[in-house]
Amino acid sequence: MSTNKPWGGRFSEATDPTVERFSTSIHFDRVLARHDLRGSRAQARMLGKSGLISNEDSEALLRGLGIVAKEIEEDQFPFDPALEDIHMNIEMRLRHHLGPVAGKLHTGRSRNDQVALDLALFLREVTLATQRGILALRGVLVERAREHIGTVLPGYTHLQRAQPVRLAHHWLAHAEALGRDASRFRDAHARIERCPLGAGALAGSTLPIGREETAAELGFVGPTRNSLDTVASRDAALEYLSNTAITMVHLSRLAEELVLWSTTEFGFIELADAYSTGSSLMPQKKNPDVPEIVRGKSGRVIGNLVTLLTVLKGLPLTYNRDLQEDKEPLFDSVTTIRDCLEVMAGALATLDVRVGKMAEAASDPMLLATDLAEFLVRQGIPFRDAHEAVGQIVGHCSREQVDLRSLTKAEMQSFHEAFSASADDLLDLEVSLESRDLAGGTSKDRVLTALAEVETEIATELGALDALEAADREEDL
Ligand code: ARG
Repeated sequence: MSTNKPWGGRFSEATDPTVERFSTSIHFDRVLARHDLRGSRAQARMLGKSGLISNEDSEALLRGLGIVAKEIEEDQFPFDPALEDIHMNIEMRLRHHLGPVAGKLHTGRSRNDQVALDLALFLREVTLATQRGILALRGVLVERAREHIGTVLPGYTHLQRAQPVRLAHHWLAHAEALGRDASRFRDAHARIERCPLGAGALAGSTLPIGREETAAELGFVGPTRNSLDTVASRDAALEYLSNTAITMVHLSRLAEELVLWSTTEFGFIELADAYSTGSSLMPQKKNPDVPEIVRGKSGRVIGNLVTLLTVLKGLPLTYNRDLQEDKEPLFDSVTTIRDCLEVMAGALATLDVRVGKMAEAASDPMLLATDLAEFLVRQGIPFRDAHEAVGQIVGHCSREQVDLRSLTKAEMQSFHEAFSASADDLLDLEVSLESRDLAGGTSKDRVLTALAEVETEIATELGALDALEAADREEDL
């Protein structure tokens, strides 16, 4: 062999150092070490069982892989950029420990199906971990919602006060969106069901390798059906990136509310000191940096999705080295969303709710204008006429600078004869909330029902996650 590479036979010159620096991926794809070793163990066992290599050789490979695994675990592995990627680093290390027998591991395998397998194993793991992070945040939202069934604030449309809602209802709204996010990761996980190993470089192998066997050992339902697609496709990574982008968009909306609500202008919440930062110049400042950074990081996670979409667009089948560009955006989104979910859960769990400020904002009688119109509807008045009459009342109050509540029965009747009481008698915040007693509405019972449903859902999903994670744990064979 004329170079340090396993393909040395074809080459007479070493790689140019610039090219080496340019093309190496070991500084990021080392993240896949565990998954690569797991795939190689399955490969080594299968080669022995199928008789392609002797049992002794198979055992030697497994022993060598064990040594390498330990080195990686203990941070003793000498990663070498000249060896390009994680696959070759591990293979060459195996050769260092075992000698030439190490060269048997790659029988019937290419780095193309190998990296596809590593990614599948990695994605299976992170789709579960991300779901767990989402569930933890939902858990905090639900806990805080339970504390605040009786806390009322204005609900907003166009960021204008619209109608009163319970804070529990508001936080459960975010829990709903996050629930759908978790289910998207669940769906994506279920789709990672076929094993790439054995697709070879692109067209399989002339050797009788046991694809079913490695697929079963690695927890897949079976081998992939088309060797070309196996090494060419990266849509499982795209799906993870797109699910992550959607979730981050949801997190950024929640984050934006925390920023807004912690302003003096709103004053609805105060973030805990542990989740805020000060200003180096202005002593009075307490800044909501945590939600701000979450809001900002949604941009980079969206960017990661766009990066991979753009890399894949127009690539001819099958494997192209461009595909190596799948990893950095993927790994970045995995850690970014993990951290964002964690800090958002912490910020929400520790923030102080200014119940009085919320109540004050919600006591604006204009929030109940729709209720007045619906009162008329109950008297048989067409909704459009009722809307018109109440619109005139609201216009009158704002022009004359009078409080809606001060209007007497006679004044109310001057706008519509069907009003049977003074405004004050017709307007009641609690009655308003309670009378929105439809599925998904603001009455206490409806909110409590929704809350209980979400709590049950979280418990069920945690159980399912435990089971999936246990099933994916490699058995000691
Ligand atoms: N490191 C490569 C990647 O991440 C996998 C190796 C395949 N390389 C190759 N030249 N066929 O995509």
